[in-house]
Amino acid sequence: MLPALAATWATLGPLLWGCGLALQGGMLYPRESPSRERKELDGLWSFRADFSENRRQGFEQQWYRAPLRESGPTLDMPVPSSFNDVGQDARLRGFVGWVWYERQAALPQRWTQDPGTRVVLRVGSAHYHALVWVNGVHVAEHEGGHLPFEVDISKLVQSGPLSSCRITIAVNNTLTPNTLPPGIILHQSDTSKYPKGYFVQNTYFDFFNYAGLHRPVLLYTTPSAYIDDITVITALDQDIGLVNYQVFVQGSEHFELEVFLLDEDSKVVAKGTGGRGQLRVPGAHLWWPYLMHERPAYLYSLEVKLTVPMAAGSISDFYTLPVGIRTVAVTESQFLINGKPFYFHGVNKHEDADIRGKGFDWPLLVKDFNLLRWLGANSFRTSHYPYAEEVLQLCDRYGIVVINESPGVGIVLPQSFSNVSLQHHLQVMEEMVRRDKNHPAVVMWSVANEPMSSLQPAGYYFKTLIAHTKDLDPTRPVTFVTNSNYEADLGVLYVDVICVNSYYSWYHDSGHLEVIQLQLASQFENWYRTYQKPIIQSEYGAETIAGFHHDPPLMFTEEYQKDVLEQYHLILDQKRKEYVVGELIWNFADFMTDQTIYRVLGNKKGIFTRQRQPKSAAFLLRDRYWKLANESAYHQSVVKSQCLENSLFTL
Ligand SMILES: *[C@@H]1O[C@H](CO)[C@@H](O)[C@H](O)[C@H]1NC(C)=O
Ligand SMILES: *[C@@H]1O[C@H](CO)[C@@H](O)[C@H](O)[C@H]1NC(C)=O
Ligand SMILES: *[C@@H]1O[C@H](CO)[C@@H](O)[C@H](O)[C@H]1NC(C)=O
Repeated sequence: MLPALAATWATLGPLLWGCGLALQGGMLYPRESPSRERKELDGLWSFRADFSENRRQGFEQQWYRAPLRESGPTLDMPVPSSFNDVGQDARLRGFVGWVWYERQAALPQRWTQDPGTRVVLRVGSAHYHALVWVNGVHVAEHEGGHLPFEVDISKLVQSGPLSSCRITIAVNNTLTPNTLPPGIILHQSDTSKYPKGYFVQNTYFDFFNYAGLHRPVLLYTTPSAYIDDITVITALDQDIGLVNYQVFVQGSEHFELEVFLLDEDSKVVAKGTGGRGQLRVPGAHLWWPYLMHERPAYLYSLEVKLTVPMAAGSISDFYTLPVGIRTVAVTESQFLINGKPFYFHGVNKHEDADIRGKGFDWPLLVKDFNLLRWLGANSFRTSHYPYAEEVLQLCDRYGIVVINESPGVGIVLPQSFSNVSLQHHLQVMEEMVRRDKNHPAVVMWSVANEPMSSLQPAGYYFKTLIAHTKDLDPTRPVTFVTNSNYEADLGVLYVDVICVNSYYSWYHDSGHLEVIQLQLASQFENWYRTYQKPIIQSEYGAETIAGFHHDPPLMFTEEYQKDVLEQYHLILDQKRKEYVVGELIWNFADFMTDQTIYRVLGNKKGIFTRQRQPKSAAFLLRDRYWKLANESAYHQSVVKSQCLENSLFTL
């Protein structure tokens, strides 16, 4: 159970300041400031998939040494985007192995001539394993498809007469039992059935393994002495907001730091000096989830100024971090935000749409947030991997609460519970906490989804993983999402909140809506009796083909999806008065999966289609979520005005 933060700040502090030490350096979101510039490299890149039998021709012929067009034909490939669905070539859609991206970037002279400028290349996400060269020189390697990595390339771009640089990124989407998510390559040797060298990739998760450069790639600058990382932890002492900060500096040992906390009117409300301290904000505006308060999602700005005295003048670096002052705590039966009970009424999502696959896209992002508002949703889980940073930034601004999930989905093979896998999982949690620790919207970490948590090594695995995550961030509860039997599960002992997925009358007792209430009530009672922890129904739903109708309801029709939801809601309404603290529908929208006999052009459990149009269940859920929002609303007037608008977010 998480104690209220203010009281234990003194004991938690030392733990927190260890945060980030295991990984080299910080991972601040690249923001422009008087001392920093950024240059997006989005657009068309040159591209080639390595179709050679061993997939290693690109390395054997060193494709990174010269422009890619010189070693063979290239395609135009949009970044960000998955490479799978933009082409007409079936071989590329299902390609497994190395693909090569390349792009030339022209650099401003002040970047290449001034040795006091630090030039950094940052890749938002490369799925799964990436190698990076600049002007033919290997500069970076990263494993894991959903978190950013970056590298200082100043020396390379400042060493010659060139005013441009050539960036080559090789990306391998091969999954193994030790990657997150795991997968295996299945080789077929029966030559009467398969061509020589034939193999396929099998995965243990229910979404398509889209691959490529999924998020923005960019260059940015800082001074040579710079603000490398900032950690902010907020707490409350009566009506005084406490902003505990620590700033990490690189490139100099002798520096001065000033920090200013500005309110939304740009008025300085607190200031401090030094790399670490506490700002006190009397009468603080708290960060509240949307609809819980008349001023939801209030964000202060923490302006950090670094000054390094030098013989010839001084160097300054500026970075501004949005800060929401809020607390999170968990009791035996409640989830508390700012000391008030919070009920998650929201969705599970995917970063998935149309031909862009998992590629980041602003119009899609804004549409999805407008749909969340239309629905009256106050929260979502980032099933089943960390989403783009821009998504979390909008959640901070709009007050949408996030359960931030790692890519630990499909951990079902015994090898995936090995200590090799565990080490990688610990590293992924470090990268994730390092990237997302300062978002007020993130209220809980989910380390995994539907692992085989009844296997014997699962106990040690989750004990270690959850303890490590709590060391990295002592301020947020930690969970994983289970679909195991309550008696057999070996990991739930270590979580703060129990997240349970179940699909009564779908995967079991198919077509039998009449068993849902009994089975769901037993599910909740069994888990609560065993553990006395709050419970979230983290998935439930039914496959539904938009436009299919039948009365009485049959599986796959819009009527059946509505009825499943209604049956669940009857029990949820009883148990939320006791210890159930949330419900997240599976899924927000239809999404692509592997081709199998039980998926018709993907998973159709969305309440919206993949094109973001509502099925009947969306209207049912909208009614319910607005009712739930009304119940928890602080000021009815706020709700009223929001109901009138009910579509666009306004701030
Ligand atoms: C990359 O892809 C190839 C071909 O699928 C595979 O054999 C290899 O293990 C992968 N390598 C890495 C480092 O991921
Ligand atoms: C991982 O290492 C720990 C500590 O050495 C050991 O107790 C555990 O059995 C190992 N797990 C597996 C699956 O080998
Ligand atoms: C929510 O409250 C508002 C304002 O009181 C009301 O107009 C609206 O109908 C309510 N919505 C639901 C679904 O109860």
